[in-house]
Amino acid sequence: MNNYIESLYWRYATKKYDPNKKITPTDLTTLKEAVRLSVSSLGLQPYKVIIVEDAEIRKQLKPVAFNQNGITDASHVFVFASEINVGKKHIDAYVNNIITTREITRETVTPFIKAMEGFIGAQDETSKSFWAAKQAYLAMSSLITTAAILKIDATPMEGFNKVEFDKILGLEAMGLTASVVATVGYRHEEDEFQHMKKVRKSEEELFITI
Ligand SMILES: Cc1cc2nc3c(=O)[nH]c(=O)nc-3n(C[C@H](O)[C@H](O)[C@H](O)COP(=O)(O)O)c2cc1C
Repeated sequence: MNNYIESLYWRYATKKYDPNKKITPTDLTTLKEAVRLSVSSLGLQPYKVIIVEDAEIRKQLKPVAFNQNGITDASHVFVFASEINVGKKHIDAYVNNIITTREITRETVTPFIKAMEGFIGAQDETSKSFWAAKQAYLAMSSLITTAAILKIDATPMEGFNKVEFDKILGLEAMGLTASVVATVGYRHEEDEFQHMKKVRKSEEELFITI
C-alpha cells in the first residue's frame, strides 16, 4: 500500500485529544498552505478560515459544539467561514489578484469576469450561500488529508451551533458565517475510536464504471 493510502487508513475522526501536544509552527504553516491551495469553484475562495488558538474563546465555543473534546483539547480549531453574500466586491478582489499575480491586463480576463458575474448574478442569496459553503468544505477536506499525511489528527465537525459560533467569533460583522469546523492536534491514547476498523462502502458499492 502506498504511503498516501496508509495515511488515510491511519486517520480517523478523533474524539479525544491529548491537550499537552501542540502542532509545531512548521506543520501549522504546511496545514495553512494546504488550505490556501485548495481548489474552489471559479478559484474564488469565497470563505475565510479563522484559526482559534485562544483558550478563553475555545471555552465559550465548546458548549455550543456539543461539548466536543477537540474544541478545547485539540492543538488548533479551524473555523471555515463562508462569505454571506458573494458579489462584485469578491469578484473585483479576485480579478485584481489574477491581474497582479499573472502580470496581465484586465482586458485579457474580461470574458472570465463576465462569466463570473453571470454565474454569481444568476443566483439568489440562499443559493449563493450554499455554493460558498460547499467551497469551504473543500478547503476543510484539504486540511484533513494534509494533516493525515503529516500524522496529525483531525476531526471534521458539523456538530456545532452556527448562530452561536457566528456570535462568539463576530463573523457577521466580517460578512461571514461559520460553515464547517475542523480540530487538529494529537489523539489521546485513551481515545477508543483509534482502534476501530474503518467502515466504508466496498469498491463495488461505491463505483459505477460505465
Ligand atoms: C462534514 C462533516 C462533519 C462531521 N461532523 C462531525 C462532528 O461534529 N463530530 C464528530 O465526532 N465527527 C464528525 N464527522 C466525522 C465523521 O463522522 C467521520 O468522518 C465518518 O464517520 C468516517 O469516519 P472516520 O473519519 O473516522 O474514518 C464529520 C465529518 C464530516 C465530513
